[in-house]
Amino acid sequence: MLAPLSLPSLEALLRAQVFGHPLAHRPDVDSTQEWGRTEARNGAPEGAVFLTDYQTSGRGRLGRTWLAPPCSSVLASLLVRPGASLYPRLFMIGGLAAVMAIEADCGVPCSIKWPNDVLIKGMKVAGVLTEGGFVGAVPDFSLVGIGINVNLDPATLAPTRYPATSLSHEVGTAVDRERLIADLLLWFERLYAEPAESDAIPNLWRARLDILGRPVTIVSNGEAVEGTATNVDSTGALTLTLPSRERRTFVAGDVSLSP
Ligand code: BTN
Repeated sequence: MLAPLSLPSLEALLRAQVFGHPLAHRPDVDSTQEWGRTEARNGAPEGAVFLTDYQTSGRGRLGRTWLAPPCSSVLASLLVRPGASLYPRLFMIGGLAAVMAIEADCGVPCSIKWPNDVLIKGMKVAGVLTEGGFVGAVPDFSLVGIGINVNLDPATLAPTRYPATSLSHEVGTAVDRERLIADLLLWFERLYAEPAESDAIPNLWRARLDILGRPVTIVSNGEAVEGTATNVDSTGALTLTLPSRERRTFVAGDVSLSP
């Protein structure tokens, strides 16, 4: 029987100094991104974290839904209010924080599918959705939404374009969600503290990508393009070299390895 998150247990494990202060939990919510957006507009500080056990309208990248059985997963939105130069890197920081926390807690190696899906043995275990809030045209805050499949049978998930897995499935035992969240926040905080002018984050992120040098297909704006993934720059943009030797660069899309 899966248990709801225990906020006191989580607070006892929390080592991050900023992220998780405050820490808010609701048993169910439409989306932690929506909840966080409302709180951000009402003045919630950087570091506020919104957690739930169940989302009725969880969302993913590219307009997709994010489904997770009750009490099975990490469903978290982290509120940040960084300087302008850090916004483009938030998706890397979110993906890397999930990789580091999973590896530390579960001992299973992870890779990143461009731009920020976390994979174990080529199967998706976590996703990151970064959404901004603006005052006029000026960025005011961002919510980094992180979903991790923790204690669930992947066979019960609705079929997706990409094969999925969960941490319990990979390690063969239930995984402590409170500990995982505490480690996720600590890793996020460490990575977020890297100076914006340093290349440490893009370099760490690039080192985890599973596609460089490999033939891939990207679907972007409804168009499927095949080529070899030859570069990702420090903003995360992906360059494919096409069979015609033409190079094309993408900032968003859905990538899969070609057979
Ligand atoms: C993706 O892989 O498409 C991104 C998935 C992000 C899901 C998380 S779960 C917590 C937060 N709230 C949401 O509605 N979405 C994100």
